[in-house]
Amino acid sequence: MGRVAGKVAIISGGASGLGAAAARVLAREGAAVVLADLDIGGAERVLAEIRGSGGEGMAAHLDAADEASWQDLMAAIRARYGRLNIAVNSAGTNAGRSFPSDTTLADWRMVMSVNLDGVFLGTKHQLALMRDSDPVNGSIINISSVMGLTALPGLGAYNASKGGVRLYSKSVALSCAEARLNVRCNSIHPGFIDTPLLRKAMARFNDPAEAQAIYDALQPVGHLGEPDDIANGVLYLASDESKFVTGAELVIDGGYTAR
Ligand SMILES: NC(=O)c1ccc[n+]([C@@H]2O[C@H](COP(=O)([O-])OP(=O)(O)OC[C@H]3O[C@@H](n4cnc5c(N)ncnc54)[C@H](O)[C@@H]3O)[C@@H](O)[C@H]2O)c1
Repeated sequence: MGRVAGKVAIISGGASGLGAAAARVLAREGAAVVLADLDIGGAERVLAEIRGSGGEGMAAHLDAADEASWQDLMAAIRARYGRLNIAVNSAGTNAGRSFPSDTTLADWRMVMSVNLDGVFLGTKHQLALMRDSDPVNGSIINISSVMGLTALPGLGAYNASKGGVRLYSKSVALSCAEARLNVRCNSIHPGFIDTPLLRKAMARFNDPAEAQAIYDALQPVGHLGEPDDIANGVLYLASDESKFVTGAELVIDGGYTAR
């Protein structure tokens, strides 16, 4: 039996990076996985791979910043599975670095709308289906960042969005606990993980080898993390092994925040 056998999971941002890795691990451990992403082609490719390894699931278009998109997605999950146990909110973006007086309101809103509104809207609609599930046994896992715990110059919108995800997740956890609803909510704080999003940030250096050396040197362990380092944390929080864990922040960062 897999560690999440029989559970239904939705993964926003499931087409790439941490979301795709989480979907593969959850499917391997027995969950039906719904891969939801702006990039429907990418979500379908990851799903095909999962099905090729014997997994089960569906792919769907989602704009995490748009409430109607969440409503459509949750209606589709309700129709197909009738329940929801695991939600991984991994859809995220960044606008690049800018000095605060140069940051545009458009960039601020773009980052907030995906990283923070997206987590709020996802959690809101996921929770409604989790609450209607029989039995109720839910785990919401919001992907924040070490950038939700510590800051960097020029990353104000990203830092603010990820800090918001951290405290929002704790409030959801307490709301469910107070209501005696068997749904847990936690945040994960990845350090620097080798994904397309990080590669985009590294591309601001002209020399890829220099970029690699700079980013490796930022990590106390001397190298970037891999998507599976985060997916294994997702699996723990998604499974019943973590049934007493709620309102927690799981830091997986090669020691980045230990300094
Ligand atoms: N890679 C890292 O080092 C790192 C570190 C800390 C936190 N994170 C966070 O992890 C999450 C995943 O990042 P990643 O590195 O896997 O990036 P990624 O770019 O590889 O994947 C992000 C996915 O989100 C999707 N997406 C973006 N906007 C969307 C929207 N509005 N609606 C639906 N889908 C949307 C993209 O299409 C993409 O498939 C993000 O929230 C990111 O902030 C990443």
